Amino acid sequence: MAALVIDGKAAAQKSGEEVRERVRFLREKGTIPCLGVILVGEDPASLSYVTAKEKALAETGMASRDLRLAADTDEATLLSHIAALNEDPAVHGILVQLPLPAHIREDRVISAIDPRKDVDGFHPVSVGNLVLGKRGFVPCTPQGVVTLLREMNIPLAGAHAVVVGRSNIVGKPLVNLLSRREINATVTLCHTGTRDLARYTLDADILIAAAGKAGLITADMIREGAAVIDVGVNRVPDPSAKKGYRLRGDVDFEGAAERASVITPVPGGVGPMTIAMLLRNVVQAAEDSE
Ligand code: GUN
Repeated sequence: MAALVIDGKAAAQKSGEEVRERVRFLREKGTIPCLGVILVGEDPASLSYVTAKEKALAETGMASRDLRLAADTDEATLLSHIAALNEDPAVHGILVQLPLPAHIREDRVISAIDPRKDVDGFHPVSVGNLVLGKRGFVPCTPQGVVTLLREMNIPLAGAHAVVVGRSNIVGKPLVNLLSRREINATVTLCHTGTRDLARYTLDADILIAAAGKAGLITADMIREGAAVIDVGVNRVPDPSAKKGYRLRGDVDFEGAAERASVITPVPGGVGPMTIAMLLRNVVQAAEDSE
């Protein structure tokens, strides 16, 4: 069986149209939703993510306040920029691109963002709200995964979802989201300490790979007919590619596509949805500020 390949770009475009409508409504009332975007240093992958986010904001009629800081910027300076964005009523959301240089404490920086502007959903207040099932910002990638699964009409209630990877950005929030009563999946969280990973993945109706390891999930680890969502974005050297590398997911795509019923590609799967969910969170922040 060959799997149906999920088009994340198309789903993101659909979500973008809804966002554009909400933005139009806000603009008519004189509010232009605006995201403060802070990038520290010049990591090429981070730079390309930030550029893509700003382009998507502009395409949906939103603004961004761009702060590019040198790699040796000290923590106090970064915190003062965040304080200024917190105070600015024209800025509705704040995004600090991660990872930060090693001399800056990530948790201090994230905690300094006003939770009302925490469109990444990384602030401890947002994390707490998600765990408690209360309203608040949900991190974009997990929200994108769930939105894609819904778009594809994959049954979630009662299904066994296996998440591989326990990051704060993807794995942990995804587990909390999928086990919410309104989604009602049964969730298993696997990580680098899991003994015999395949034992768990082979039982998954929905397998979500978010470990950041190219090709970790091979065809023999996938149950026939499972839905496979690949969150991994790994740069692997490829001398034949123009940039000298190509992007690979955590899943061995060709093999997995033979066993799965649906599968997301890398690139063009979850990635576009992450940005689409960020746009949603920014417009939400602007609406809530009214
Ligand atoms: N680095 C990798 N993913 C993300 C994300 O979703 N938000 C931010 N701020 N940094 C990231």
